[in-house]
Amino acid sequence: MSRTLHLGVFVETTGRHLAGWRHPDVDPQAPMRFQHYRQLVEIAERGLFDLFFLADGLAVRDRAAERLGRTPKAHLEPLTLLAALAPLTQNIGLIATASTTFNEPWHLARKFASLDHLSDGRAGWNIVTSSSQAEAENFSLAEIPAPETRYRRAEEFVEVVRGLWDSWDDDALVADQQQGLYFPPHRLHALDHQGEFFSIRGPLTVSRSPQGYPLLVQAGSSAQGIQLGAKYGEVIYTAQTQLADAQQFYHQIKSLAEQAGRQRDDIRILPGLFPVVAPSRSEAAEKFEQLQSLLHPEVGLAQLEHHLGGVSLSGCDLDGPLPDLPPGREYTSRAELLVSLARRDRLTIRQLYQQVGVARGHPLLVGTPADIADFMATWFQEGAADGFNIMPGWLPGGLIDFVDQVVPELQRRGLFRTAYHGSTLRERMGFSRPASRYAVANK
Ligand SMILES: Cc1cc2nc3c(=O)[nH]c(=O)nc-3n(C[C@H](O)[C@H](O)[C@H](O)COP(=O)(O)O)c2cc1C
Repeated sequence: MSRTLHLGVFVETTGRHLAGWRHPDVDPQAPMRFQHYRQLVEIAERGLFDLFFLADGLAVRDRAAERLGRTPKAHLEPLTLLAALAPLTQNIGLIATASTTFNEPWHLARKFASLDHLSDGRAGWNIVTSSSQAEAENFSLAEIPAPETRYRRAEEFVEVVRGLWDSWDDDALVADQQQGLYFPPHRLHALDHQGEFFSIRGPLTVSRSPQGYPLLVQAGSSAQGIQLGAKYGEVIYTAQTQLADAQQFYHQIKSLAEQAGRQRDDIRILPGLFPVVAPSRSEAAEKFEQLQSLLHPEVGLAQLEHHLGGVSLSGCDLDGPLPDLPPGREYTSRAELLVSLARRDRLTIRQLYQQVGVARGHPLLVGTPADIADFMATWFQEGAADGFNIMPGWLPGGLIDFVDQVVPELQRRGLFRTAYHGSTLRERMGFSRPASRYAVANK
């Protein structure tokens, strides 16, 4: 079978655009309503998507947003929500974000194994280490742990979770009423893990799940994040705007995976993509302009100030040029880049924040279905992507547009499936079911 794209939808409240919730077609209360997610997952499944992905954080992470109150910051908890969506769907993968810094492995091993059972093998875990101070302050910590510490914990965490997922042999539950034997004790395995962060006996109280291990998803972009992804990640999300950088990232992850004893094909790399699509370019541009016009200046400005390393722009004329950054401090490469972009293209402050606030690190494509399919085909065929994480600007409209317009174009080109095959998420992603460590040891 020829290689085809894998598609996920990135679900963030009412969409990726900071003003998505103000779009006239959007229910602004949707992030707290079950029907919103039900509608989204049904649209994504109609579009034959591989993954329905719920982003998450354990705090209102954006202090400016908290102060301004102008962006949606309340939404439902992912694992609870996906458990409710599981019986309403048949094929799509259900991916929840969960933190290794603010959870215990036993809890997550149990919850994801349960979701895998509830969904007949469609659960996935987006492993994050949580990097914000705001999250630390919700978990009795004065300071967010250093990245090295968080990633060391994450590695031990994932190891332990996989061990717990192997607690029960695949055929351990004999439940023999005649003999009065529920499980042969030798088919149940304590983990007896002693490590730097965790001391866990096991076993789990959930039997081995349909996929063996729920799918492991990862999106770290620091050196440690990339190492973790290459070692354990099966789907890697990433923010890339240039083809050459995306190719380099793709190559790096696959090479590191090989060094860790895996195959290049054991990993699917899915960069984010923010599409605004319409039958003609002028209609697409109009749609985009409508969205942009809804961005509140205080929100745009707060985003820009954040990317400029906290420089205050209050009192500046929004329709005037960006002032020079105050001297005497160090700026990130991102801040320098924004200043040179503003100078080069003679952008006003308003124009600059409109550019910055939109896709936040991901490619923004405003065009026809063919334009968007061209972009996807190039990245897919030139070693930069195995698929994409679609980030609609507003929901559900941006997702409906993609499913109704771009998916048929991809199918016409033979780049995307025309029906679901396989019974578990792993099978649809082209992966085999991992054997339990005890089954391997007994071979
Ligand atoms: C597409 C994408 C989605 C992400 N979703 C989340 C999320 O839902 N929650 C979260 O805490 N971090 C999320 N992250 C952040 C990553 O987990 C990671 O912390 C970030 O890329 C920085 O990498 P580092 O931790 O290795 O420095 C996401 C990153 C990407 C690229």
